[in-house]
Amino acid sequence: MTGRTDETSATRPEEAAAFLAVDDLHAGYGDVRVLHGVSLRVGEGEICAILGPNGAGKTTLLRALCGMVKGRGGVRLDGTSLAGCSPDAVARRGVAHVPEGRGTFVPLTVEENLRLGAFARRDRAAVQSDLERVYGHFPVLRERVGQAAGSLSGGEQQMLAIGRALMSRPRLLLLDEPSLGLAPLVTRELFGIVRAINEEERTTVVVVEQNAHLALGIADQAHVLESGRIALSGSAADIRADEQVAQSYLGYRI
Ligand SMILES: Nc1ncnc2c1ncn2[C@@H]1O[C@H](COP(=O)(O)OP(=O)(O)OP(=O)(O)O)[C@@H](O)[C@H]1O
Ligand SMILES: [Mg+2]
Repeated sequence: MTGRTDETSATRPEEAAAFLAVDDLHAGYGDVRVLHGVSLRVGEGEICAILGPNGAGKTTLLRALCGMVKGRGGVRLDGTSLAGCSPDAVARRGVAHVPEGRGTFVPLTVEENLRLGAFARRDRAAVQSDLERVYGHFPVLRERVGQAAGSLSGGEQQMLAIGRALMSRPRLLLLDEPSLGLAPLVTRELFGIVRAINEEERTTVVVVEQNAHLALGIADQAHVLESGRIALSGSAADIRADEQVAQSYLGYRI
């Protein structure tokens, strides 16, 4: 009897460790339902990859996590519910979102864009040291500091978008297709930097990516989304190692 009671009341280890906990999340746009009950866990300091075909709902999932799309279900960050919060409120709780297509302000300079990332912060003195920190991760941005964002290359703009997100000192970084439109070499460099940010700053990362090979190369765990449902979850290493999984869920050999 006591055994059963303990079993039902105890928190499972993965729940206790979950930094981001998503439970039975449903979301969509008006009458268009996109996510049909997504549940996942991400541990603090982990990189989680969300893979899946076009239209699976990957972008919608990130939008639901950051409050841009209204959802039904549970979203908790470090034990605090984000359900029903506005994008501003979610950002204040430490979530930074780098959307598909980057969203940098093209007429503004590199440094102006980076400073905008810190606009919600009150610790002005620390902003300068954070600029240095971002330039440390992305040396090319220091070289382009006075240049309009619109004149940067695609890879540099993606770096700027991530740098701007880092200026808010996020605890959770949501990246939507950072490799979109970038050359393979640039993408590899970018993923290396994301990994370094994760390791050096212990920033938890959820990255949506079509390039499964690269994403699985830096991720701790991965989920494959299909038609708004999680079709497969596992450690990135396991998913990477399983060729059959790669072919049937990701559509090609990894
Ligand atoms: N603003 C919107 N209004 C209505 N439907 C939308 C909207 N945005 C996306 N959808 C629909 O939601 C579904 C999921 O789209 P979503 O952008 O989340 O997919 P995705 O997995 O990110 O795809 P991709 O790999 O092409 O970026 C698609 O069927 C899409 O047409
Ligand atoms: Mg998308």
